[in-house]
Amino acid sequence: MADIKDQIKAIKESCLSKISSAKTPQEIENIRLKFLGRKGTLTLILRSIKNLTESQRPRIGALANSVRKELERVIEDKNETLGRKKVIPTVDLTLPSRRYRVGRSHLISRTIKELVDIFTGFGFEVALGNEIETEFYNFEALNMPADHPARDMQDTLYLPKGYLLRTHTSPVQIRYMESHKPPIRMMAPGRVYREEDINASHLPLFYQLEGLMVDKGVRFSDLKGILEFAVKRLFSKDLKVRFRPSFFPFTEPSAEMDIECPHCRNKGCNVCGYKGWLEILGAGMVDPNVYKSVGYDKYDVSGFAFGMGIERIAMIRHRITDIRLFYTGDIRFLTSI
Ligand code: FA5
Repeated sequence: MADIKDQIKAIKESCLSKISSAKTPQEIENIRLKFLGRKGTLTLILRSIKNLTESQRPRIGALANSVRKELERVIEDKNETLGRKKVIPTVDLTLPSRRYRVGRSHLISRTIKELVDIFTGFGFEVALGNEIETEFYNFEALNMPADHPARDMQDTLYLPKGYLLRTHTSPVQIRYMESHKPPIRMMAPGRVYREEDINASHLPLFYQLEGLMVDKGVRFSDLKGILEFAVKRLFSKDLKVRFRPSFFPFTEPSAEMDIECPHCRNKGCNVCGYKGWLEILGAGMVDPNVYKSVGYDKYDVSGFAFGMGIERIAMIRHRITDIRLFYTGDIRFLTSI
Protein backbone atom coordinates (compact mmCIF):
# COMPACT_ATOMS: atom_id res chain seq x y z
CA MET A 1 0.00 0.00 0.00
CA ALA A 2 2.80 2.41 0.90
CA ASP A 3 4.33 1.37 -2.35
CA ILE A 4 1.34 2.36 -4.48
CA LYS A 5 0.95 5.64 -2.57
CA ASP A 6 4.60 6.49 -3.29
CA GLN A 7 4.11 5.60 -6.89
CA ILE A 8 1.15 8.00 -7.18
CA LYS A 9 3.15 10.77 -5.48
CA ALA A 10 6.13 10.15 -7.76
CA ILE A 11 3.84 10.32 -10.83
CA LYS A 12 2.42 13.61 -9.58
CA GLU A 13 5.87 15.17 -8.98
CA SER A 14 7.23 14.08 -12.29
CA CYS A 15 4.13 15.26 -14.20
CA LEU A 16 4.14 18.66 -12.47
CA SER A 17 7.81 19.28 -13.17
CA LYS A 18 7.38 18.33 -16.83
CA ILE A 19 4.35 20.65 -17.15
CA SER A 20 6.20 23.57 -15.63
CA SER A 21 9.08 23.30 -18.07
CA ALA A 22 6.86 22.69 -21.15
CA LYS A 23 6.87 25.52 -23.68
CA THR A 24 4.32 24.59 -26.32
CA PRO A 25 0.74 23.26 -26.27
CA GLN A 26 2.05 20.23 -28.17
CA GLU A 27 4.50 19.38 -25.34
CA ILE A 28 1.62 19.68 -22.85
CA GLU A 29 -0.51 17.34 -24.94
CA ASN A 30 2.32 14.77 -24.96
CA ILE A 31 2.64 15.02 -21.16
CA ARG A 32 -1.12 14.61 -20.76
CA LEU A 33 -1.08 11.47 -22.89
CA LYS A 34 1.92 10.06 -21.01
CA PHE A 35 0.28 10.41 -17.59
CA LEU A 36 -3.47 10.70 -18.14
CA GLY A 37 -4.04 9.17 -21.59
CA ARG A 38 -5.67 5.77 -22.10
CA LYS A 39 -2.38 4.04 -21.41
CA GLY A 40 -0.97 6.78 -19.20
CA THR A 41 0.84 5.89 -15.97
CA LEU A 42 -1.80 7.33 -13.65
CA THR A 43 -4.62 5.78 -15.69
CA LEU A 44 -3.03 2.35 -15.31
CA ILE A 45 -2.82 2.82 -11.55
CA LEU A 46 -6.47 3.87 -11.39
CA ARG A 47 -7.38 0.77 -13.33
CA SER A 48 -5.40 -1.48 -11.00
CA ILE A 49 -7.23 -0.23 -7.92
CA LYS A 50 -9.87 -2.87 -8.39
CA ASN A 51 -7.16 -5.48 -7.53
CA LEU A 52 -6.52 -3.97 -4.11
CA THR A 53 -8.15 -5.17 -0.89
CA GLU A 54 -11.49 -3.68 -0.01
CA SER A 55 -9.98 -1.71 2.88
CA GLN A 56 -7.24 -0.21 0.65
CA ARG A 57 -9.44 0.68 -2.30
CA PRO A 58 -11.27 3.81 -1.01
CA ARG A 59 -8.18 5.64 0.25
CA ILE A 60 -5.94 4.85 -2.72
CA GLY A 61 -8.84 5.50 -5.09
CA ALA A 62 -9.50 8.92 -3.53
CA LEU A 63 -5.79 9.83 -3.64
CA ALA A 64 -5.35 8.76 -7.30
CA ASN A 65 -8.51 10.62 -8.32
CA SER A 66 -7.54 13.83 -6.56
CA VAL A 67 -4.09 13.70 -8.19
CA ARG A 68 -5.75 13.16 -11.59
CA LYS A 69 -8.03 16.13 -11.06
CA GLU A 70 -5.15 18.32 -9.91
CA LEU A 71 -3.02 17.37 -12.90
CA GLU A 72 -5.91 18.03 -15.29
CA ARG A 73 -6.41 21.49 -13.77
CA VAL A 74 -2.70 22.35 -13.94
CA ILE A 75 -2.63 21.18 -17.57
CA GLU A 76 -5.64 23.33 -18.40
CA ASP A 77 -4.09 26.41 -16.74
CA LYS A 78 -0.80 25.90 -18.51
CA ASN A 79 -2.58 25.54 -21.87
CA GLU A 80 -4.44 28.74 -21.24
CA THR A 81 -1.26 30.63 -20.37
CA LEU A 82 0.51 29.37 -23.46
CA GLY A 83 -2.54 30.09 -25.64
CA ARG A 84 -3.06 33.60 -24.24
CA LYS A 85 0.56 34.48 -24.77
CA LYS A 86 0.13 33.63 -28.40
CA VAL A 87 -2.98 35.81 -29.01
CA ILE A 88 -2.42 38.99 -26.99
CA PRO A 89 0.79 40.43 -28.40
CA THR A 90 -0.27 39.99 -32.00
CA VAL A 91 -0.89 43.28 -33.83
CA ASP A 92 -1.75 43.02 -37.49
CA LEU A 93 0.03 45.96 -39.04
CA THR A 94 -1.45 45.22 -42.45
CA LEU A 95 -5.02 46.01 -41.35
CA PRO A 96 -6.44 49.32 -42.67
CA SER A 97 -6.50 52.01 -39.97
CA ARG A 98 -9.69 53.52 -38.55
CA ARG A 99 -10.88 56.76 -40.20
CA TYR A 100 -9.41 59.69 -38.31
CA ARG A 101 -11.83 62.60 -38.09
CA VAL A 102 -10.30 66.05 -37.99
CA GLY A 103 -12.41 68.73 -36.30
CA ARG A 104 -12.86 72.20 -37.77
CA SER A 105 -14.45 75.53 -37.00
CA HIS A 106 -18.23 75.86 -37.05
CA LEU A 107 -19.67 77.37 -40.23
CA ILE A 108 -20.78 80.47 -38.29
CA SER A 109 -17.21 81.06 -37.05
CA ARG A 110 -15.89 80.58 -40.58
CA THR A 111 -18.46 83.02 -42.00
CA ILE A 112 -17.55 85.63 -39.37
CA LYS A 113 -13.88 85.21 -40.22
CA GLU A 114 -14.56 85.69 -43.94
CA LEU A 115 -16.59 88.84 -43.28
CA VAL A 116 -13.93 90.20 -40.92
CA ASP A 117 -11.28 89.56 -43.60
CA ILE A 118 -13.32 91.42 -46.22
CA PHE A 119 -13.93 94.49 -44.03
CA THR A 120 -10.36 94.47 -42.73
CA GLY A 121 -9.45 95.06 -46.37
CA PHE A 122 -11.41 98.36 -46.15
CA GLY A 123 -9.55 99.35 -42.99
CA PHE A 124 -12.29 98.38 -40.52
CA GLU A 125 -11.07 97.11 -37.13
CA VAL A 126 -12.84 94.60 -34.88
CA ALA A 127 -14.46 95.87 -31.68
CA LEU A 128 -16.24 93.76 -29.07
CA GLY A 129 -18.97 95.10 -26.83
CA ASN A 130 -20.95 93.48 -24.02
CA GLU A 131 -23.67 90.88 -24.37
CA ILE A 132 -25.23 92.22 -21.16
CA GLU A 133 -26.12 95.83 -21.81
CA THR A 134 -28.08 98.71 -20.34
CA GLU A 135 -31.17 100.31 -21.89
CA PHE A 136 -29.05 103.36 -22.58
CA TYR A 137 -26.64 101.60 -24.96
CA ASN A 138 -29.15 99.19 -26.52
CA PHE A 139 -31.90 101.79 -27.08
CA GLU A 140 -31.63 105.32 -25.76
CA ALA A 141 -28.29 106.34 -27.23
CA LEU A 142 -29.50 104.82 -30.50
CA ASN A 143 -32.34 107.34 -30.70
CA MET A 144 -34.93 105.05 -29.11
CA PRO A 145 -36.22 106.80 -25.97
CA ALA A 146 -38.16 104.84 -23.35
CA ASP A 147 -41.58 105.19 -24.98
CA HIS A 148 -40.37 104.86 -28.57
CA PRO A 149 -42.48 102.33 -30.52
CA ALA A 150 -39.38 101.08 -32.35
CA ARG A 151 -38.35 99.24 -29.18
CA ASP A 152 -41.11 96.77 -30.04
CA MET A 153 -39.28 95.84 -33.25
CA GLN A 154 -36.90 93.78 -31.13
CA ASP A 155 -38.49 91.77 -28.30
CA THR A 156 -36.13 92.18 -25.41
CA LEU A 157 -34.98 89.77 -22.71
CA TYR A 158 -34.65 91.90 -19.57
CA LEU A 159 -32.38 91.09 -16.63
CA PRO A 160 -32.65 92.38 -13.05
CA LYS A 161 -31.31 95.80 -12.01
CA GLY A 162 -31.98 97.56 -15.34
CA TYR A 163 -29.80 95.28 -17.43
CA LEU A 164 -30.83 93.43 -20.58
CA LEU A 165 -29.39 91.03 -23.16
CA ARG A 166 -28.46 93.11 -26.18
CA THR A 167 -30.96 92.69 -29.01
CA HIS A 168 -28.48 93.79 -31.70
CA THR A 169 -24.80 94.66 -32.07
CA SER A 170 -25.59 98.37 -32.57
CA PRO A 171 -24.73 99.31 -28.92
CA VAL A 172 -21.09 98.60 -29.87
CA GLN A 173 -21.33 101.67 -32.18
CA ILE A 174 -22.03 103.83 -29.13
CA ARG A 175 -19.32 102.30 -26.94
CA TYR A 176 -16.79 102.63 -29.74
CA MET A 177 -17.66 106.27 -30.53
CA GLU A 178 -17.47 107.12 -26.81
CA SER A 179 -13.89 105.92 -26.69
CA HIS A 180 -12.66 106.90 -30.17
CA LYS A 181 -12.59 110.10 -32.19
CA PRO A 182 -13.35 110.15 -35.95
CA PRO A 183 -12.19 108.94 -38.42
CA ILE A 184 -13.76 105.62 -37.46
CA ARG A 185 -14.00 102.32 -39.29
CA MET A 186 -15.11 99.55 -36.96
CA MET A 187 -16.94 96.24 -37.17
CA ALA A 188 -18.46 94.25 -34.33
CA PRO A 189 -19.31 90.57 -34.74
CA GLY A 190 -21.19 88.97 -31.86
CA ARG A 191 -24.11 87.20 -30.25
CA VAL A 192 -27.45 88.92 -29.80
CA TYR A 193 -30.63 87.83 -28.01
CA ARG A 194 -34.34 88.32 -28.67
CA GLU A 195 -37.47 86.90 -27.21
CA GLU A 196 -38.53 85.04 -30.34
CA ASP A 197 -40.56 81.98 -31.16
CA ILE A 198 -38.17 79.47 -32.69
CA ASN A 199 -38.86 78.52 -36.31
CA ALA A 200 -36.94 77.75 -39.52
CA SER A 201 -35.69 81.34 -39.84
CA HIS A 202 -35.72 82.71 -36.27
CA LEU A 203 -33.73 81.89 -33.15
CA PRO A 204 -33.69 83.65 -29.77
CA LEU A 205 -29.87 83.71 -29.93
CA PHE A 206 -28.10 84.52 -33.18
CA TYR A 207 -25.07 86.37 -34.55
CA GLN A 208 -24.83 89.77 -36.18
CA LEU A 209 -22.05 91.78 -37.74
CA GLU A 210 -22.23 95.51 -37.17
CA GLY A 211 -20.28 98.03 -39.20
CA LEU A 212 -19.66 101.74 -38.65
CA MET A 213 -17.75 104.32 -40.65
CA VAL A 214 -17.62 107.97 -39.51
CA ASP A 215 -15.44 110.68 -41.00
CA LYS A 216 -15.68 114.05 -42.66
CA GLY A 217 -17.81 113.88 -45.80
CA VAL A 218 -18.91 110.22 -45.74
CA ARG A 219 -21.82 109.86 -48.18
CA PHE A 220 -24.59 107.40 -48.93
CA SER A 221 -22.68 106.41 -52.08
CA ASP A 222 -19.79 105.24 -49.82
CA LEU A 223 -22.24 102.98 -47.96
CA LYS A 224 -23.55 101.58 -51.24
CA GLY A 225 -20.08 101.09 -52.75
CA ILE A 226 -18.52 99.35 -49.76
CA LEU A 227 -21.50 97.10 -49.05
CA GLU A 228 -21.94 96.15 -52.70
CA PHE A 229 -18.26 95.29 -53.01
CA ALA A 230 -18.31 93.25 -49.75
CA VAL A 231 -21.41 91.28 -50.70
CA LYS A 232 -20.02 90.52 -54.16
CA ARG A 233 -16.79 89.23 -52.58
CA LEU A 234 -18.93 86.99 -50.37
CA PHE A 235 -21.13 85.62 -53.16
CA SER A 236 -20.00 86.35 -56.70
CA LYS A 237 -18.82 89.34 -58.74
CA ASP A 238 -21.72 89.38 -61.17
CA LEU A 239 -24.46 89.15 -58.50
CA LYS A 240 -27.08 91.93 -58.72
CA VAL A 241 -27.89 93.92 -55.56
CA ARG A 242 -30.59 96.48 -54.76
CA PHE A 243 -31.32 98.94 -51.96
CA ARG A 244 -34.83 99.52 -50.67
CA PRO A 245 -35.88 102.37 -48.38
CA SER A 246 -36.44 101.23 -44.80
CA PHE A 247 -36.55 102.54 -41.26
CA PHE A 248 -34.20 102.24 -38.28
CA PRO A 249 -34.36 104.88 -35.51
CA PHE A 250 -30.56 105.24 -35.46
CA THR A 251 -30.07 105.85 -39.21
CA GLU A 252 -31.52 108.48 -41.54
CA PRO A 253 -32.05 107.70 -44.34
CA SER A 254 -32.26 103.94 -43.79
CA ALA A 255 -32.16 101.13 -46.31
CA GLU A 256 -32.27 97.40 -46.65
CA MET A 257 -30.03 95.65 -49.10
CA ASP A 258 -31.24 92.69 -51.15
CA ILE A 259 -29.21 90.38 -53.32
CA GLU A 260 -30.36 88.46 -56.32
CA CYS A 261 -30.81 84.83 -55.19
CA PRO A 262 -27.41 83.23 -55.97
CA HIS A 263 -29.03 79.81 -56.52
CA CYS A 264 -31.76 80.57 -59.05
CA ARG A 265 -30.50 83.99 -60.25
CA ASN A 266 -33.87 85.63 -59.88
CA LYS A 267 -35.96 82.80 -61.34
CA GLY A 268 -37.43 81.67 -57.99
CA CYS A 269 -36.46 78.66 -55.87
CA ASN A 270 -36.96 77.31 -52.33
CA VAL A 271 -33.99 79.32 -50.96
CA CYS A 272 -35.52 82.70 -51.88
CA GLY A 273 -39.11 81.55 -51.33
CA TYR A 274 -39.74 82.01 -55.09
CA LYS A 275 -39.16 85.78 -54.75
CA GLY A 276 -35.85 85.92 -56.66
CA TRP A 277 -34.39 88.40 -54.11
CA LEU A 278 -33.01 87.89 -50.60
CA GLU A 279 -32.80 90.50 -47.85
CA ILE A 280 -29.25 90.58 -46.58
CA LEU A 281 -28.74 93.57 -44.28
CA GLY A 282 -30.06 96.77 -42.75
CA ALA A 283 -28.08 99.99 -43.09
CA GLY A 284 -28.24 103.78 -43.26
CA MET A 285 -26.56 107.11 -42.57
CA VAL A 286 -25.96 107.58 -38.84
CA ASP A 287 -28.77 109.72 -37.38
CA PRO A 288 -27.56 113.12 -36.01
CA ASN A 289 -29.23 112.28 -32.66
CA VAL A 290 -26.78 109.37 -32.26
CA TYR A 291 -23.83 111.76 -32.63
CA LYS A 292 -25.39 113.93 -29.95
CA SER A 293 -25.43 111.05 -27.45
CA VAL A 294 -21.70 110.37 -27.93
CA GLY A 295 -20.65 114.03 -27.99
CA TYR A 296 -19.73 114.31 -31.70
CA ASP A 297 -20.47 117.49 -33.64
CA LYS A 298 -23.17 116.48 -36.14
CA TYR A 299 -22.18 119.36 -38.46
CA ASP A 300 -18.58 118.23 -38.57
CA VAL A 301 -18.86 114.50 -39.36
CA SER A 302 -21.07 112.07 -41.21
CA GLY A 303 -21.11 108.31 -41.48
CA PHE A 304 -22.93 105.12 -42.18
CA ALA A 305 -23.75 101.96 -40.23
CA PHE A 306 -24.95 98.53 -41.20
CA GLY A 307 -26.00 95.31 -39.47
CA MET A 308 -26.35 91.83 -40.93
CA GLY A 309 -27.50 88.47 -39.63
CA ILE A 310 -24.64 85.96 -39.90
CA GLU A 311 -26.78 82.80 -39.87
CA ARG A 312 -28.95 84.17 -42.68
CA ILE A 313 -25.87 84.83 -44.83
CA ALA A 314 -24.46 81.34 -44.15
CA MET A 315 -27.89 79.87 -44.96
CA ILE A 316 -28.07 81.63 -48.31
CA ARG A 317 -24.56 80.62 -49.28
CA HIS A 318 -24.94 76.97 -48.29
CA ARG A 319 -28.59 76.45 -49.25
CA ILE A 320 -29.56 75.74 -45.63
CA THR A 321 -33.32 76.06 -45.25
CA ASP A 322 -33.59 75.63 -41.45
CA ILE A 323 -31.62 77.92 -39.11
CA ARG A 324 -32.05 75.47 -36.19
CA LEU A 325 -29.61 73.04 -37.83
CA PHE A 326 -26.67 75.27 -36.82
CA TYR A 327 -27.14 74.57 -33.13
CA THR A 328 -28.61 71.08 -32.79
CA GLY A 329 -25.13 69.49 -32.94
CA ASP A 330 -26.10 66.87 -35.52
CA ILE A 331 -22.77 65.49 -36.75
CA ARG A 332 -24.24 64.67 -40.20
CA PHE A 333 -25.11 68.34 -40.73
CA LEU A 334 -21.88 69.66 -39.21
CA THR A 335 -19.68 67.50 -41.44
CA SER A 336 -21.69 68.35 -44.57
CA ILE A 337 -21.09 72.12 -44.42
C1 FA5 B 1 -31.07 95.34 -36.57
O1 FA5 B 1 -30.83 94.55 -35.67
C2 FA5 B 1 -30.27 96.60 -36.76
N1 FA5 B 1 -29.47 96.83 -35.58
C3 FA5 B 1 -29.42 96.52 -38.00
C4 FA5 B 1 -28.81 97.82 -38.38
C5 FA5 B 1 -27.55 98.17 -37.95
C6 FA5 B 1 -29.52 98.74 -39.18
C7 FA5 B 1 -26.97 99.41 -38.26
C8 FA5 B 1 -28.95 99.96 -39.51
C9 FA5 B 1 -27.70 100.29 -39.06
P1 FA5 B 1 -32.84 93.77 -37.70
O2 FA5 B 1 -33.71 93.66 -36.52
O3 FA5 B 1 -33.49 93.86 -39.03
O4 FA5 B 1 -31.92 95.05 -37.56
O5 FA5 B 1 -31.82 92.56 -37.70
C10 FA5 B 1 -30.74 92.47 -38.60
C11 FA5 B 1 -30.61 91.06 -39.18
O6 FA5 B 1 -30.54 90.09 -38.12
C12 FA5 B 1 -31.82 90.63 -40.00
O7 FA5 B 1 -31.71 91.08 -41.32
C13 FA5 B 1 -31.69 89.12 -39.95
O8 FA5 B 1 -30.75 88.66 -40.89
C14 FA5 B 1 -31.12 88.88 -38.57
N2 FA5 B 1 -32.15 88.45 -37.63
C15 FA5 B 1 -33.12 89.20 -37.03
N3 FA5 B 1 -33.86 88.46 -36.18
C16 FA5 B 1 -33.35 87.21 -36.22
C17 FA5 B 1 -33.67 85.97 -35.56
N4 FA5 B 1 -34.62 85.90 -34.64
N5 FA5 B 1 -32.93 84.86 -35.85
C18 FA5 B 1 -31.94 84.94 -36.75
N6 FA5 B 1 -31.58 86.06 -37.40
C19 FA5 B 1 -32.28 87.19 -37.16
